This record gives sequence, structure tokens and C-alpha cells, in this order.
Amino acid sequence: MDDQQAPHGQPVTLYEAVGGQPYFVALVEDFYGRIETDPVVRPLYPDDLGPSITHTALFLIQYWGGPGTYSETRGHPRLRMRHAPFVIGQAERDGWFKHMSDAVNETDVIQEAKDMMIRYFDHAATAMMNS
Ligand code: HEM
Repeated sequence: MDDQQAPHGQPVTLYEAVGGQPYFVALVEDFYGRIETDPVVRPLYPDDLGPSITHTALFLIQYWGGPGTYSETRGHPRLRMRHAPFVIGQAERDGWFKHMSDAVNETDVIQEAKDMMIRYFDHAATAMMNS
């Protein structure tokens, strides 16, 4: 009997529970597709959303227990500091959060995982406000 194993071989991270990297890449691509046409949030982002997609996916993969490629390539997340150059008020925060929670809700994973991610995004998006 190996005490180090999780009981019944259950996944131990949310990253594993939702299917790993492909889940987060698809989620983030869907999210930025929604951002693309948002008149309040889109202007904050650079013309080319490619790097934003890559960095956001790598961050979420790391945050939810996957590989640490984000910090290896970008350094410590320091998300509040990284968002300081952009004016993020209530409208920007609410738009961002709506697109992300809609994107999460449309994925095909267990409800508990969606609830955990949406709770995190709700809280973190508020923490990013600076105006
Ligand atoms: C749950 C909250 C949020 C998370 C987890 C998050 C995550 C990230 C990450 C990982 C990056 C890339 C950082 C890097 O350069 O390595 C980023 C950039 C950015 N975020 Fe957020 N963000 C959040 C909320 C917001 C909100 C509310 C806004 C405003 C509407 C926003 C606007 C931006 C902008 C304009 C950039 C810069 C573009 C870029 O570098 O790709 N973010 N965010």
C-alpha cells in the first residue's frame, strides 16, 4: 500500500481535472475571441493578441497546477504590477470578467472546476482594478 498515492487515483490538481494544456489554450483563445469585439476592453490590449493569448494560457496553466513555463519565460507573475499601465475601472473589470466567465461556462468540464475558476477570476479581476 503506497500512502503517497491520492485515494482512488483521483486527479490532484485542477489542471489535471480539466484535461491539462489543451483545455487552457482553448479557453484562452475563446476568451480573447470575445475580447476582440468588446468596445470597452479591446482598446486596452495591443493590436496583436497572439502574445497575450500565449502569456495568459501559460499563466493559468501554472496557476492551476501545471508546468511552470510562465515563470520560466516571464518571471514572477506580479499581476497587479503588470496591469498597472492599463486603466482598469469597474467597466473594464466587469467586461473582462463577463467574457472569461462566459468562456469557462461554455467548456465541457465538471461544474466544481468551473465554480473554482469563476470564483478565482471574480476575485482576481477585482484585485486588478486601479481606477
Ligand atoms: C482574473 C484576473 C486577470 C488575470 C488572471 C489576468 C492575467 C493576465 C496575464 C497573465 C497577462 C500577461 C502578463 C505578461 O505579460 O506576462 C495579462 C495582461 C493583460 N491584461 Fe490581464 N488579467 C486579469 C485581469 C485583467 C483585467 C480585469 C483587465 C482589464 C480589462 C486586463 C487587461 C490586461 C491587459 C491590457 C494586458 C496587457 C496585454 C498583454 O500583455 O497581453 N486583465 N493579464
